[in-house]
Amino acid sequence: MKRKNERKGTQTHAVSLVSLIDPSSPVAEQYRTIRTNIQFASSADQQVKTIVVTSSGPSEGKSLSSANLAAVFAQTGQKVLLVDADLRKPTIHKTFQLNNEAGLSTVLSTGVKAGETAQKTAVENLSILTSGPKPPNPSELLGSAKMNQIMEEARNIFDIVIFDMPPVVAVTDAQIMSSKADGTLLVVRENWTRKDALSKAKELLDLVQARVLGVIYNGSEQGKDKAYYYYSD
Ligand SMILES: Nc1ncnc2c1ncn2[C@@H]1O[C@H](COP(=O)(O)OP(=O)(O)O)[C@@H](O)[C@H]1O
Ligand SMILES: [Mg+2]
Repeated sequence: MKRKNERKGTQTHAVSLVSLIDPSSPVAEQYRTIRTNIQFASSADQQVKTIVVTSSGPSEGKSLSSANLAAVFAQTGQKVLLVDADLRKPTIHKTFQLNNEAGLSTVLSTGVKAGETAQKTAVENLSILTSGPKPPNPSELLGSAKMNQIMEEARNIFDIVIFDMPPVVAVTDAQIMSSKADGTLLVVRENWTRKDALSKAKELLDLVQARVLGVIYNGSEQGKDKAYYYYSD
């Protein structure tokens, strides 16, 4: 029975978390480079502790990138919280095989604390706040004063807090969170992301004065995953 569970866990990681299952692979190295670049973007007066991951449209690798980034940050020994703030199409609980009965939506709508609701994972230093049950009003919840309190609490408990978000062009959720977070990463997928959608995404983020730290270029060529990082300016 135990062995069966172990195999299942490995399989899930094999799908998406290359940084954990194959740390010596080029793509894991690329995620570590992205981590280093983010660390350099953080200074005493402009700390980068809370990071939003978004993209212009669906299926561009936001969840994949935020999970891998969270993993490589945890590998440095920093205390990391990955928050599934895509309350519309949450996937982080599936990737990490976690229970999603309580999560961010629960914390937002009840008195429970984020620190108590977050779940520890098999990855040392990595905790996850899953999305929780789908709420009817994600944008209102994310824009609420309660969300600010949750971010403040998370800042005090963790070294790095990463928010996986819905696409920025479709709904306002990522814009809202980008305006609250220290930095935003924009994921672009090779042969997928439309140029006009990408410029719209940048425009929407600029509108709320988001600090766009850079672009994660998520691509695959000849069956090999790639994840490059570009500075936004
Ligand atoms: N570079 C890539 N190579 C192969 N599959 C990928 C790549 N990027 C994303 N995918 C797959 O595409 C799907 C969508 O990725 P996901 O990270 O969930 O996107 P998003 O969160 O932006 O909607 C997932 O099944 C994921 O495994
Ligand atoms: Mg996603």
